[in-house]
Amino acid sequence: MIIVREIKKMQKISDEKRREGKIIGFVPTMGALHEGHLELIRTARKKTDFVVVSIFVNPIQFGPKEDYRDYPRDEEGDFEKCKREGVDCVFVPHVGEMYEENFSTYVEVEGLTEGLCGKYRPGHFRGVTTVVAKLFNIVRPHLAFFGWKDAQQLLVIKRMTRDLNFDIEVVGVETVREKDGLAMSSRNWYLNEGERKQAPYLYKALLYGKEIIEKGERNAEKLKEEIKKFISKNVPLGKIQYVEIVDIENLKPLKKIKGDIMIALAVFIGKARLIDNIRLKVHDRR
Ligand code: PAF
Repeated sequence: MIIVREIKKMQKISDEKRREGKIIGFVPTMGALHEGHLELIRTARKKTDFVVVSIFVNPIQFGPKEDYRDYPRDEEGDFEKCKREGVDCVFVPHVGEMYEENFSTYVEVEGLTEGLCGKYRPGHFRGVTTVVAKLFNIVRPHLAFFGWKDAQQLLVIKRMTRDLNFDIEVVGVETVREKDGLAMSSRNWYLNEGERKQAPYLYKALLYGKEIIEKGERNAEKLKEEIKKFISKNVPLGKIQYVEIVDIENLKPLKKIKGDIMIALAVFIGKARLIDNIRLKVHDRR
């Protein structure tokens, strides 16, 4: 496994691999790798010849009051995990080379970034799309892999890739969960014992929402209220940021639950801001 820290060197390696006819698979991460990341890597391993994982805690996607400084970092542990999964190359750029003095060019996707997390994390998606566009230009992959746990991020990156004509296939990989249903996330590291016990109820709340829809509820406001009540009862340490029912295509909130939808939520438990979602098809027969 090669460890690369310089942008030019990474570009050179990717160019060489492309010339050799290799299909490059790319898994961008901020490190603190968990099973969710490993599933992205395994999918990339199956589908491509040369797997590159980037590890870069991207300062410009964190708000001033967010956890950039405290974000979990474990470079040596991450390298070990990558080696075990048969990763070919880990790209760990320096922040100063990624964002040189007077850095002033940003990539912004409109519309899709307005609701859900975008509403509460101004500038976050601008930071994500900017760094992913840069990483795409540096790693030059054929395929790039992102998790459905960050559904809005995945859809925003797909849109950016299409709109800016990156010749890259963006592949969505299903959320990996702990045995009790908690979605894997680097931010689960922040949970203490009591918080960790309550955290699985976020996924249970989504499943409870699904059950209510299956029983015939079509009013999104009523469903949101039911899910919020469920969370307040079962996650007393939680502070709900949002529960939304949206159209999966445009991420706009729905009044009537119909079509391909997503129930998405963001809840603070202690210091950890946890997000999760489920996607459903609600196609009523007339
Ligand atoms: O999902 C993440 O870990 C980050 O948002 C990403 C895509 C690596 C960009 O920094």
